[in-house]
Order: sequence, then structure tokens, then C-alpha cells
Amino acid sequence: MKVLVIGSGGREHALAWKIAQSPKLQCVYVAPGNGGTASDPKMQNVPLSDVQDLKHWALEHAIDLTVVGPEGPLSEGVVDVWRDAGLRIVGPTRAAAQLESSKAFSKAFMKRHKIPTAAFETFSDASLAHAYVERLGAPIVVKADGLAAGKGVVVAENLGQAHAAIDHMLSTNAQVVVPQGGEARVVIEAFLEGEEASFMVLCHGLSALPLATSQDHKRLLDKDLGPNTGGMGAYSPAGVVTPAVHARVMREIIQPTLKGMMSEGMPFTGFLYAGLMIGPKGDVHTLEFNTRLGDPETQPMMMRLKSDWFEVLWAASAEPHAPHTLEQFPSLGMGHSEVMQSAHPLDDIELVWDRRVSLGVVMAAHGYPEKVRVGDVLASLPLGGDSTQVFHAGTRREAGHWLTAGGRVLCVCALGENVAQASQSAYELVDKIHFEGEQHRTDIGWRAKH
Ligand code: AMP
Ligand code: GLY
Repeated sequence: MKVLVIGSGGREHALAWKIAQSPKLQCVYVAPGNGGTASDPKMQNVPLSDVQDLKHWALEHAIDLTVVGPEGPLSEGVVDVWRDAGLRIVGPTRAAAQLESSKAFSKAFMKRHKIPTAAFETFSDASLAHAYVERLGAPIVVKADGLAAGKGVVVAENLGQAHAAIDHMLSTNAQVVVPQGGEARVVIEAFLEGEEASFMVLCHGLSALPLATSQDHKRLLDKDLGPNTGGMGAYSPAGVVTPAVHARVMREIIQPTLKGMMSEGMPFTGFLYAGLMIGPKGDVHTLEFNTRLGDPETQPMMMRLKSDWFEVLWAASAEPHAPHTLEQFPSLGMGHSEVMQSAHPLDDIELVWDRRVSLGVVMAAHGYPEKVRVGDVLASLPLGGDSTQVFHAGTRREAGHWLTAGGRVLCVCALGENVAQASQSAYELVDKIHFEGEQHRTDIGWRAKH
């Protein structure tokens, strides 16, 4: 079997690494890949990013299965293009990817389907937005509509910050991709208190296979200070997702979402990631949806997976045994699990996870997240072992050296009996890696280290 992974980050390196362990695999291609995927003997980089170019390449090379890492190609419609060409792929269609690519769409969708999320309003008129925050008061959250690489959200502690965020997002719209329709919009929502967790499921229509839970660290600096980033580290499992919380998330968030997408004619396929806020009483709210796996959450998560990942993805990309229709599932209550059992190959899969904790520390480049410097030399990199792994993200290989080539450079992962041990071995490895201007947090996992 030949598999293509689309993307170039740490998430894609970890996906390719896990897929490559399957005995069914001949080669994992990564497009465009990074310095880590370039130097792994089981992987091969493909220097293409354009969706049409990649489709022709995939057809020519008889690729059996494609897995999409980042949101960009999904919102460009890579899944639709692949399916039209008769190619097998794991990911949501362009329409379904709106759950991530448009905050206005996803918030309105949650409202329609009574999926718990913070109260909100959407504005394109700045004066109405200003009046709204005056009425609600601070703290309050201002979000740009559209993909903004994790940088389009301002948690305003006072009204001044909220007003400035509205002006910035609506007038200059810096760094924000304006969605279809072309009008800049902001979503303003109530501030939620609690602890965050990442909850990812692999889906097809109404079938959902939950993956291991995880928690990431979005702020640049220790103690959750500094600007928001794509994520500076993560660990799995997230203890805050107790079995009771897990059941509640499936019942109140995941199942109604899949049912809602189906009823609106956009059956969801691929990875659905709910960013959760878990309140002090175990109540759950959706902060956001992503329609892909998390980065860096995927890196520690893949370290814990014992199942054949290729087989899981192969099953996820299959057509249902019998087409799912809502009539089959008038309500998604307990009694319907048997119907769902035979509906899609995903329902027959039980994932096996290492019971140990996995933890990943991101090593970032000079200037990340604002002004990233590239081209610094990574002197030497320790090899991964049975319980440690160095996943590459922003690196490239040149003349026998690895050079930094992006903001998040590496994700150094380790397994351990508990968070403290996993953290200790990950940081032992981090200490062996050096490059000019390197930045990392020293407290990944702190919430779970009791
Ligand atoms: P998002 O991209 O929507 O997940 O937001 C990025 C980060 O902003 C989240 O990980 C939270 O830390 C924070 N955040 C977003 N929305 C809220 C909210 N309603 N209440 C509190 N914090 C929030
Ligand atoms: N780590 C958060 C994300 O992937 O969106």
C-alpha cells in the first residue's frame, strides 16, 4: 500500500511515523514534508503543495490512501477533488470543513443544534460590536472569523482590549483570511471559566471513533503567559476528561454535531476536534471545532497508539456498509448503537493505547510566533528510542545538515509512568538539542503534575 500524508508539520511527521509501522505499508509519501520526513528511510518527501498538482501526482503514483494534516487544503476542497478523481482520502469535504474555517458558521451551527458553547453574537459593523461589548462587559472574547492560525482570538480582560481587538480585526484584518463572501466579521462571545482539553474523534457520517484525550499549551511562555501560539507542548491522556466527562462530550457535543452535519447535507468525514472548556462541575462547552488533528497533540498521542494506524485510516476512508440515513437514527440514544455497529467499518474498530502518559515539548525558532527567523543550524539530534521520539516540524535538510525552516521546529516526545516521569525524560532529550535562538516552555504538563 502507498499512503500520502499532506502537510509539513510535526503532526504530519508523527502521522507518517505511525502509519509507516504498519506491515502493509510500502512507502509513506509526505507532501511537502520537512527535514525529519526527508531523512526517514520509510518516508519520501514530495515537493508539491498545489491541490491539482498533487492530485495528478497521486493518480500517476497509484496512491491508495491520502491523509490530510492541516486545515488549509481542507478548506480549499482537497477531499472533494480527491473523491471526484476516485481517490481514497481521510478528511472532511470543503463544506464540512467550514466547522473550522468559519467561526461564524460553526457558532451558528452550534446554536441551531443546541450544542453547548459560549453565548455569542457575530458582527461586521464595528459600532454595533463596540456597543455589544459595552453592554456585556469584560472579561470577554473577540474572535476573527476565518482561519488565523490560532492568532485570531483575543481574550480581553478589560473593555479597552476588547475595543482594540474589534478595531484591529474589522478595519485592518491583519493575518486573517477573510472567508467566502469577502466581508470581515468578528464573533464576540462570553468568557468561560474552567480547564481546557482537546477531544478528537475519527468520523464517518454518524460513526465516531474517539481517540485518546489530550491537553495542549497555547501560550508561548511558562505559567501560561505571553502570546497565543499554535501550541507549545501537549500531553495525553488529559486527566480532566474523566469517564463521566467523556460520555457527556460524546452525548452533548460529538453525536449532535455529526447528526446536525448529516441533516444539513454535509455528512462529516475525517477528524473532528472539539476544543473543550470543562467547568468546575464537569459541564462541557465547545470553544471551537477543528476539522483536523491537533498539532502538537497528535505527536504525543501517536506515541501511545498501539493499533495499526494504517488499518484504522483505511477503515475511516471506506464507504459505509449501508448508507447512513437519519431515518435509521431518529434519535441518537443508547438503543441505536447496534444499528450503528454494522453501518460503517469504523464501528468495528477498538483502538489500543499504551496506558502510559505521553508528553511532547515544542522547541520553537527565534522570534516565534511573531517574526520567525529561519536558517539556524540544528547541531545534532538524538535518535528516538522505544519511549522517546523527536518529531520534526519547521526543519529542512540541506547539505547533510538540518536547518530551522519554520516557527515550531521540533516536538520532543517521551512516554512515562506518569506526567512527571514523561516530562523528565522529554526534558532530558530537549537539553541535548541546541540551535541558535531556540525557545521552549519548561512547564509542559504542569496542570496534571500533582
Ligand atoms: P479558539 O481558537 O477559539 O480555541 O480560542 C483560542 C483560545 O482562546 C482557547 O484555547 C482559549 O484559551 C481561549 N478562549 C477562546 N474562547 C474562550 C471563551 N469563550 N472563554 C474563555 N477562553 C476562551
Ligand atoms: N493545538 C491546537 C490546534 O491544533 O489547533
